[in-house]
Amino acid sequence: MNFRLSAAASAAVIVISAAACSREDASTPTLASSPEIAATAAVTNAPADQTSATQQELRRDKFSYANYDEVRVTHVSLDLDVLFDEKVLDGTATLDLEYVKPDAKSLILDTNDLTIRSVDARVGEEWVAATINLGADDPVMGSRLEIALPEGAAQVRIAYRTSPGALGLQWLAPEQTAGKAHPFMYSQNQAINARSMVPIQDTPAIRITYDATLRTQKDLFAVMSAAQDPDGVRDGDYYFSMPQPIPPYLIAVAVGDIEFRPISDHIGVYAEDYIVDRAAKEFEDTPKMEAADAALYGPYRWDRYDMLVLPPSFPIGGMENPRLTFLTPTIIAGDKSLTNVVAHELAHSWSGNLVTNATWRDAWLNEGVTSYVENRVMEALYGPERAEMERTLDLDELKRVVGEAKRPELTQLKMPADIEDPDDAFSQVSYIKGAFFLKFLETRFGRDVFDPFLKGYFDHFAFKTVITEDFVEYLKDNLLTAHPGVVSEEEVHEWLYEPGLSATMIIPHSDAFAKIVEMQAAWLAGDMTPADFGADGWTTHEWLSFINSLPDHTTLDQFAALDITFDLTHSTNDEIAFAWFMKSIDAGYEPAFPEIRKFLLRVGRGKFIFRLYSELVNEGRKVWAQEVYAEARPGYHPVTQQRLDETLK
Ligand code: BES
Ligand code: ZN
Repeated sequence: MNFRLSAAASAAVIVISAAACSREDASTPTLASSPEIAATAAVTNAPADQTSATQQELRRDKFSYANYDEVRVTHVSLDLDVLFDEKVLDGTATLDLEYVKPDAKSLILDTNDLTIRSVDARVGEEWVAATINLGADDPVMGSRLEIALPEGAAQVRIAYRTSPGALGLQWLAPEQTAGKAHPFMYSQNQAINARSMVPIQDTPAIRITYDATLRTQKDLFAVMSAAQDPDGVRDGDYYFSMPQPIPPYLIAVAVGDIEFRPISDHIGVYAEDYIVDRAAKEFEDTPKMEAADAALYGPYRWDRYDMLVLPPSFPIGGMENPRLTFLTPTIIAGDKSLTNVVAHELAHSWSGNLVTNATWRDAWLNEGVTSYVENRVMEALYGPERAEMERTLDLDELKRVVGEAKRPELTQLKMPADIEDPDDAFSQVSYIKGAFFLKFLETRFGRDVFDPFLKGYFDHFAFKTVITEDFVEYLKDNLLTAHPGVVSEEEVHEWLYEPGLSATMIIPHSDAFAKIVEMQAAWLAGDMTPADFGADGWTTHEWLSFINSLPDHTTLDQFAALDITFDLTHSTNDEIAFAWFMKSIDAGYEPAFPEIRKFLLRVGRGKFIFRLYSELVNEGRKVWAQEVYAEARPGYHPVTQQRLDETLK
């Protein structure tokens, strides 16, 4: 029955998209007549019986087994030992329950690779053993854990342990850390890996508060995405509490030989000793970023904002864990040129953490809105030229990704109902097309109108979960109708439900990049030498533009000439190095290969290494890539290993 409803809902969306193509046609359905918009309930927290069947279907997160429309987990209390010898977390999770349907008979949770020791339910003051049923393991979803609820059960307590191979956790041996003396562990739970750390309703459709007691070795410090004291006693026994309701994918933990440096009274950075001072310097503008966000969208609502620099194997650039952003060390370039990642993760404190996508089909509401805010903050701090450069580089990326899309539906902002993995929703489409959608609205309405609108959206849906259709309804009620004739519903519809680059996209332009491309052409034609570029004053972004636009016919001699003048092969800026390595693989520029190997052994950030390995495979160097991978694999995160095993098998 679920299947039938979901098929009907997606069919409706497809029909509407097709009709909206012919904009001149008077019979074109408007957003108001589309089924996904028509219903009125605005937030997931609305009572289930007040929402239409279609609305409920659109709000259903198909990547969770949880019966959150019957019983909802509202608070999680963790009591865990962090056991480095065995690479497991071991202890209990106590879940508070809220009954959506008073007669609910069971609680269904998500788990992945957990060993469940026992489950008890609390009725009144008494704990009684509960009957459970653990389903078969699905490669994407993990296992369904059904707990029979005795009548009146207010809490369940699950004794469990994680697996050493848990997808959401990485355990690093001392030799894999910079200091080489202490082990390190951390979680990366978005999108659906919280279930490999905690038995939980692992869906952004619900929000929970949490607290945690962690016990670990006395010589290690633990941090979580929660309230904590940076100067607290370091005795191996740590307590955390997150009083604000968050989606479960934002539960996060890290344990290691971690130092702290304050940046302001409520902002600071945690990192291993070797990099903590450099990190504090690199991120010293974070208070200004917060001020820029707050000026646009209202005060920061999460008390402290700290950052944690992870070991280089961290699989992504940054993760917006509340109160404690996780960051890759590869953005510490020494010149703040890559701190847009900080602006991005901080912006999630409004878009994503405060107003959260209810399903992964709506990931653009997290990532696209955040990427837009990120760019506004970069503009506020470093000027319009830098913001325009970042948008220009982004657009090139978006074009590449749209061109390579497996199917056109994956280039819509609203992801199709049949995506097989939540990761499919996190392509550059959600990020960049999403940001360009808001840029389009900003440009049409003007900042005087659009900025207060977006602030109003964050306020209206604060601590709620939303789907694309809620955004559209809010947009209609608060922007389109109030300012008629500026943006049509069909234009909005095209951005959200149709594939490809929108006809109304605002194309960024950078004079600096245009000049660089001109010089590059003159050099390639033999009319100029690299020494004449005046490249000493180039920013990282200008370098990226120069390297990315090197044409296929660039000769190996020309690569060598660039390298002699600029030593790009040894760039200490990981973005520049990556761009250069991609071109070097493509061209077969041998002198870069030893450095590519070192890079792949040092860095685990997916954005870089997935593309480098794929490029090596595509350019006929699979055997070499496999050799490097065999050496590098033990240092990569489990999710990264899983994906590369596929590429390099
Ligand atoms: N929330 C994402 C990271 C993420 C997305 C993790 C999906 C797992 C699944 C984070 O905010 C992010 O977008 N990070 C980017 C940086 C940004 C500047 C685009 C990254 O890691 O590259
Ligand atoms: Zn993000």
